[in-house]
Amino acid sequence: MSTPAISIRNLTKEFAIPFKKERLVAVRNLSLEVPEGEVYGLLGPNGSGKSTAMKIVLGLVTPTEGTTAIFGCDSRRVESREQVGFLPENPYFYKFLTALETLLFFGKLCDLRGSALKDHAYSLLKTVGLENAADRRLGGFSKGMLQRIGMAQALIQNPRLLVLDEPTAGVDPAGSREIRDLILQFKSQGITVLLCSHLLGQVQEVCDRIGILHHGSLIKEGRIEDLITLENQTQLVLENASPALLAELEKRAREGGATVIGEGRPKADLEQFFLRVTQFNS
Ligand SMILES: Nc1ncnc2c1ncn2[C@@H]1O[C@H](COP(=O)(O)OP(=O)(O)O)[C@@H](O)[C@H]1O
Ligand SMILES: [Mg+2]
Repeated sequence: MSTPAISIRNLTKEFAIPFKKERLVAVRNLSLEVPEGEVYGLLGPNGSGKSTAMKIVLGLVTPTEGTTAIFGCDSRRVESREQVGFLPENPYFYKFLTALETLLFFGKLCDLRGSALKDHAYSLLKTVGLENAADRRLGGFSKGMLQRIGMAQALIQNPRLLVLDEPTAGVDPAGSREIRDLILQFKSQGITVLLCSHLLGQVQEVCDRIGILHHGSLIKEGRIEDLITLENQTQLVLENASPALLAELEKRAREGGATVIGEGRPKADLEQFFLRVTQFNS
């Protein structure tokens, strides 16, 4: 088996609560792996530990217990971050810099220089649809535009792994759709993506697998199709069935011990599934 893009083993993170003896467990014995090339969605209600888990993977927060690695390199080592791009939950940008200057600034932080950096910055602005805003200052950007510059920033050092914390938070539906399409584009280029989001519909469209965190624990994990399929139900799709035929089928089903419980799609959507499992585990 090839080395996973991300591996998290028995990860626990506790925070001290000021003036109290007990500690807050933000992440509880979390283990998961993201193979290279996959888009993995970490879902969970606010405060379930998504951002903390991501920050530990990126070496920005020290775990209480457990280990994390990126392409086999321990997150505590600086080299682990060489092939990673990160879009934080609330990215901070200098408002007086233009879009192009912002990318040049982040590029220089990654040790990129000269005309190669400039060409790369222009091509990234094009990728995220900001080529016409290259010389505009970020102070006048909408939330959607800021998220797109954040994506471009995360791509500046041609990462093999992109970590996106709530990439569509506060972005309108059209903007969210564009971000979703970008994620699919990155995936087609072979980039591994770890994203967390509460916008379940979009997660459903881009993620190969999801994990649901609740109170810091991973309560469900798998392919979306498998998770939301209702196992004891069978769907029969008929074209041009007459009412008489439907009545006959229903009668036969009853005789065979089955119950016709409705017409339509026998699947919960991801949103219903999410609410069901998080409520069940409260
Ligand atoms: N630096 C910190 N100090 C104390 N508590 C924190 C810190 N960061 C996160 N927490 C707590 O850890 C829990 C998980 O937070 P977080 O990982 O941000 O959740 P999510 O991203 O899923 O909304 C929350 O209860 C939050 O208040
Ligand atoms: Mg968060």
